[in-house]
Amino acid sequence: MGFTRWVVTSAWPYINTVPHLGNMIGSILSADIFARYLRLRGYEVILVSGSDEHGTVIEVEARRKGVEPQELTNEAHKYISKLFCDWHISFDNYTRTESEVHKEFVSNLMMKLYERGFIDIKEQVMPYCDTDKIYLPDRFVFGTCPYCGYEDARGDQCDNCGKLLSPEELISPRCVFCLSKPTFKTTKHWFFRLDRVEDVIKDWLDGHELLDDNVKNYSISWIKTGLKPRSVTRDNKWGIKAPFPDAGDKTIYVWFEALLGYVSATIEFFRRLGCEDRWRDYWLSDESGTAYFIGKDNIPFHAIILPAMLLASGERYNLPTVISATEYLMFEGQKFSKSRRVGVWIDEALEIVPDPDYWRFALVRMRPEGRDTSFSWAEFVRIINNELNDDVGNYIHRVLTLINKLYGEVVPTASKYSKIDYEFKDKITSSLRKYCECMDAAKIKAASDVILELARAGNQYLNVKEPWAKVKSDIDDASTTLYLGYISVYVLGLMLLPITPNSAANLFRMLNLNIGELKISYDEALLQMTQRRIRRPEPLFKKLSVDFLQNIDSIIDNVRRKVQLKRPEVLR
Ligand code: MF3
Ligand code: ZN
Repeated sequence: MGFTRWVVTSAWPYINTVPHLGNMIGSILSADIFARYLRLRGYEVILVSGSDEHGTVIEVEARRKGVEPQELTNEAHKYISKLFCDWHISFDNYTRTESEVHKEFVSNLMMKLYERGFIDIKEQVMPYCDTDKIYLPDRFVFGTCPYCGYEDARGDQCDNCGKLLSPEELISPRCVFCLSKPTFKTTKHWFFRLDRVEDVIKDWLDGHELLDDNVKNYSISWIKTGLKPRSVTRDNKWGIKAPFPDAGDKTIYVWFEALLGYVSATIEFFRRLGCEDRWRDYWLSDESGTAYFIGKDNIPFHAIILPAMLLASGERYNLPTVISATEYLMFEGQKFSKSRRVGVWIDEALEIVPDPDYWRFALVRMRPEGRDTSFSWAEFVRIINNELNDDVGNYIHRVLTLINKLYGEVVPTASKYSKIDYEFKDKITSSLRKYCECMDAAKIKAASDVILELARAGNQYLNVKEPWAKVKSDIDDASTTLYLGYISVYVLGLMLLPITPNSAANLFRMLNLNIGELKISYDEALLQMTQRRIRRPEPLFKKLSVDFLQNIDSIIDNVRRKVQLKRPEVLR
């Protein structure tokens, strides 16, 4: 990857709900792991995201409660930001769409589109609910999808076939609030001429060598049916004021503004540091890459609409380098559902098992790469107890305890290698290389497979080499074994650092290494570490108790009651 710098981003979570485990691995956690990995490779990285806080849900909720929308979102933003800290997400800027920098940036960019002839005004028929007295844009009207026949398609998109829709395309439309049949009223809206960038976008997609097949194929097939102008304004009150002449009280459609948050959050970050212009190095320079972590339902927005806006603005913005779109994480075989309480939400998770590293590791192991996967409590326990604790944790502890027992503080050095030693040495270097290849391609689950393989190979190696016995008969052989054992533990630590940062930091403390100075490299230097000292080893992980699985239902009931009380009302 021939860049020196990266902007890593995660889809901006809707502010009206606490993210669940599926949201977490689909966007925020994956982005964090990728950013931590790139930092460890020595790139300059900034990780940004924020709360997606405008739009109809909050507006309707605020009206019902008789408060200003911002009162609701202030509280929710604070609560959710804190949760991401608790999960050790290393955001450089977790901001919000109400930020002044964002509003100003969106306004300016929209005006550029307007001035460059990419905005047309058209009359549009919009569903209007006479009962609720509001227009029903986007997700607030549902009906049958004209493409695939799915009965719960929304006015902006069919969640079954993924096609983007307009409300008037829906067959038998209904209001989501009261289920009544809307009337269609004519209102004036401002449309983005997506059709005018169709060719450029198509060439860009065709020539893109790093895009995953799911992203590429989906986007190309979407373009085949032709890109139509899409309205960028709404009749909502709660949002960013549309800057176009005569646009009155219209606001910008949430998708079109939130997407621009990736850039505005970068600007805001550097403005706070007092060197605002540096954002240009991240967004306009050939030396910088951009990576997006999203769920698959967000593909058209990131692979088509965002690049289209960036291109049409006339500035030479970098278009997406990496778009990692996960499939869905299910919960015990079902869809996560807030209303039916199917799933686990990220505040509940930390009340059930407080160490975020356990969740981070388990979610990476379940990351839906290439196919939908399902969270189950049994699988969670298996991953923590067998993989994290036994395979990885016990191996690391075994090596360090053997060194400590047989050699004391100072790690022995290798003076002679036999065939099996060479093989294990190769295994260590090839594992690190393979891990980096997977991570470079944002295949985080696949990268975690490498960690387990190396730990298992290490355990095997110790079993065969028996350094505890050899130390008496052939000390040089025992020294080589534990020297390589040490190196493998060091490499495991590097590979764990992006995924389980806290536990890996504990490990590096035992190794007397400063994590600020660590860097992944797979050159020979890796194998020439001598005169290392270690501290008294402590186990890195613990097993979940046997009754955990048996009691999980009552554990959840208790936690849920407790968490509901802590949440701001709008998030309950
Ligand atoms: N809030 C949207 C979702 O959760 C994602 C918005 S991504 C952004 O699906 F780029 F538009 F911010
Ligand atoms: Zn459909």
